Amino acid sequence: MALIKKPRGTEDLLFADSNDWQIMEDIIKECVKLYNYRELRTPIFENTDLFKRSVGDTTDVVSKEMYTFEDKKQRSLSLRPEGTAGIVRAYIEHKMYGYVDQPVKAYYLGPMFRYERPQNGRQRQFHQFGIENIGPKAVEIDVETILLGLDITQRLGIKNIKVVLNSLGDKASRAAYRKALVTYFKKHQDEMCEDCQKRLKDNPLRLLDCKVDAKKAYMKKVPLLSDYLNEESKQYFADLISILDDLRIDYEIDEKLVRGLDYYTDTIFEIISLNKESGAQATLFGGGRYDHLIHELDGPDISGVGFAMGLERMMISAKAENPDLFKQGSVDIFVMPLDKFSKKYAFTITSKLRQKDIACDMEYNDKSLKAMLRYAQRNNIKYAIIIGENELQAETMVFKDLVNNTEEELSDDWLEIIEKRIKQNE
Ligand code: HAM
Repeated sequence: MALIKKPRGTEDLLFADSNDWQIMEDIIKECVKLYNYRELRTPIFENTDLFKRSVGDTTDVVSKEMYTFEDKKQRSLSLRPEGTAGIVRAYIEHKMYGYVDQPVKAYYLGPMFRYERPQNGRQRQFHQFGIENIGPKAVEIDVETILLGLDITQRLGIKNIKVVLNSLGDKASRAAYRKALVTYFKKHQDEMCEDCQKRLKDNPLRLLDCKVDAKKAYMKKVPLLSDYLNEESKQYFADLISILDDLRIDYEIDEKLVRGLDYYTDTIFEIISLNKESGAQATLFGGGRYDHLIHELDGPDISGVGFAMGLERMMISAKAENPDLFKQGSVDIFVMPLDKFSKKYAFTITSKLRQKDIACDMEYNDKSLKAMLRYAQRNNIKYAIIIGENELQAETMVFKDLVNNTEEELSDDWLEIIEKRIKQNE
């Protein structure tokens, strides 16, 4: 029988990898607290209709990429391809609009599923961290959303990025623009790729970011979205830009940015990695405002804004730009008995360190000092405690700083001194 392997487009995260992911997730969770977001966990699968009605049934995500199945009672369910729909569903279902404290600021982190062709930075099971701010509309919140994403990016040491913005306007502006696009593209229907012929009927906005037709002459003269924005939307976008300017945030406005999900209105944005390692899948995170989504899912007339970042892509960029971030040791101290008589003493020391919340491990087998030091180096462990015959008899120990290559002999007050040294170096 053939060996069973993991499904295409999924990953096993072995120890070293999951350690790196925990480092990244800890940084994200710490940052999100500064902005007062709290975690909301929703199911991995939802009723298929939820995604059809929110993301949109003519989008690629819903029409081509969803993992949809029937349960034993013939209900159509889908693995979530994104997080916003589930959060908004939960917001409505639990009447969170009735909470005294508004807006509702939710974050989520977990697996999402899209049946796409796997490549570097693109998987079928991938992970998103996302936030949704649901409540009264204010342009400062749009800015805060972008800033939070940039803050995380910076904390991970990712600098090589660009911020791309656009405004889709309100519903009326969008409908007027859609009409103009259909009229324009109909004249060029014969020159369009097969996918675009279909998009012209189903989802004309997506004609703008077709990669196949991008260089064709007629693409240079397409009507511009900005010409169809009404005064209110124009002003909203101008206000957003002015705050970003005051904050000295660099950005580009891309009139052809439309995003692949149907629910957006006004502000949309994408943050792109400029690293070579990111290859073709360079969008680290994207998001925007959705003024009608909550109402369209039978909730009240409340607006929201959010983004989601692809964590596999963040990891690729962080490793390329800031590899030191992941050099954290598995534990702080490795205790090294030099012979079998010292092991019991080493074990007592290890236990006492753990009681003081110091992460440590010891060598239980007979190994040479060289082999134990190599182990510590491989695992980025910063300190060693070495115990031989002399130390055992005198009840002392050699405490070695493996990074700075210094050592000291410790006796009675060893635990306090070690605690102090670790704190000093943090
Ligand atoms: P999205 O642009 O579809 O937006 O996805 C957000 C991010 O998820 C992308 O920028 C990318 O980093 C990552 N991503 C998407 N598909 C894959 C894949 N197959 N493999 C690896 N990474 C992937 C949304 O999902 C919206 N819900 C964002 C949002 C939240 N808008 C408002 N609130």
